[in-house]
Amino acid sequence: MKTQSLTITDNRTGKSYEIPIQYGTYPDYGASISALDLRKIKVSAQDFGLLTYDPGYTNTASCKSSVTFLDGEKGILRYRGYSIEQLAENSTYLETAYLLLNGELPNQTQLAGWHEDVLEHTFVHENIKKLIDGFHHKAHPMGTLVGTVGALSTFYPDAKNIHETDCRDRQIWRLMAKMPTLAAFAYRHSLGLPYVYPDQSLSYVGNFMNMLWKKSELQYQPNPILEKALDVLFILHADHEQNCSTSVMRAVASSYSDPFSATSSAIAALYGPLHGGANEAVLHMLAEIGSVDRVPEFIKTVKSGEVSRLMGFGHRVYKHYDPRATICKKLANDVFSVTGVNPLLAVALELERVALQDDYFISRNLYPNVDFYSGLIYQAMGFPVGMFPVLFAIARNAGWLAQWKEFLLDPDQKIARPRQIYCGDQARDYIAVDNR
Ligand code: SDX
Repeated sequence: MKTQSLTITDNRTGKSYEIPIQYGTYPDYGASISALDLRKIKVSAQDFGLLTYDPGYTNTASCKSSVTFLDGEKGILRYRGYSIEQLAENSTYLETAYLLLNGELPNQTQLAGWHEDVLEHTFVHENIKKLIDGFHHKAHPMGTLVGTVGALSTFYPDAKNIHETDCRDRQIWRLMAKMPTLAAFAYRHSLGLPYVYPDQSLSYVGNFMNMLWKKSELQYQPNPILEKALDVLFILHADHEQNCSTSVMRAVASSYSDPFSATSSAIAALYGPLHGGANEAVLHMLAEIGSVDRVPEFIKTVKSGEVSRLMGFGHRVYKHYDPRATICKKLANDVFSVTGVNPLLAVALELERVALQDDYFISRNLYPNVDFYSGLIYQAMGFPVGMFPVLFAIARNAGWLAQWKEFLLDPDQKIARPRQIYCGDQARDYIAVDNR
């Protein structure tokens, strides 16, 4: 049996060090060494020892997690061991959220209880409406969501008791239940429409559609094809291991802040165009290209660097087709059968065809990610582009909360406080302003 360790020789001193190698579930995906073991590699007794330098954490594991597994080379995505393809085909978002949060698929009784726990908390305090009314009517709904989710921490001061299981569960119910309500209220506010209260006789997604689009009918009836499509899109976006916004959720959790404040921070991280804001950026990009015949010209501007990125392409982990993009592409047909084909679909398909044949993208392993097609579907369903990242946030809420819970229960974890490589000035004395 080979020794599971590295032998490192420091050529500055000739000394050798044995560094143990740790493994996760898969021996060929995630073998690691402890960064702290490098601190013993020194040139003298007062030497601080070696650090690793890794901007953007491209090769740094921040935690051990059992929630989601990604294999970027093989295009694999699994939640608690179940493939995204099987969950999209057979599950519902609320059932998938239970799986992410509890580690197992629920039985009938557990699912019914979970459904009741969540739907029971869908109402928000009436003062929240006054808070939303205070936003500019053109406020981006992500900005409203960051503010209102954070504000929930002031309505539930008990949420600070994060080490109590019952308390954690109650805040998880509240966040799962109220995020769609806050999102729908933000949307209605932007249109100057009255808020629609939750209808607890509908499904999780059906109720969200009700709060978005109910008019004067006695009871809103969601279109079943669109309801199913949105539910699948929420499953696709539910978790994605240690992405930017989840890492922020864990970092804020690490100071023992309450889950509403942590979730508000995660939403703020998701808002960025390189992350959850990408699906909005994709639609702006497709609209700017405008027609299929202008695709070659646009591709040239990306390759020349004139336009920084082909939005909806590329991924830190997936170096092949994002499995979620494959499912999105199929889902588009179902939605377009109800809404009519989004005219920008032809531009997206041509953009994908050209890019996947171009060495600039192939050499950089740039393939469509989940955001490339999701925006086309949302737009066809009637969502304004500003709501796209909000839909992402509603779905990712389950993953953020599962990772928050896992962090708090992980004995290895402590407050997030990275080190740095100092490259600034050496010590120097103050000079009076007249002498500068
Ligand atoms: C999400 O992490 C997650 O899991 C995220 C997510 C989730 O579910 O949480 O999957 C959701 O955020 C999907 C990604 C959505 N973002 C976009 O579609 C924006 C466009 N894509 C990128 O900006 C980029 O691909 C990232 C941010 C997604 C990944 O960036 P990396 O891993 O830091 O890669 P990089 O910036 O180091 O790029 C490597 C090379 C560079 O070229 P060179 O400098 O080596 O010449 O690839 C180029 C980049 O310029 N490149 C692109 C590109 N993405 C990377 N060139 C053109 N178009 C692109 N989209």
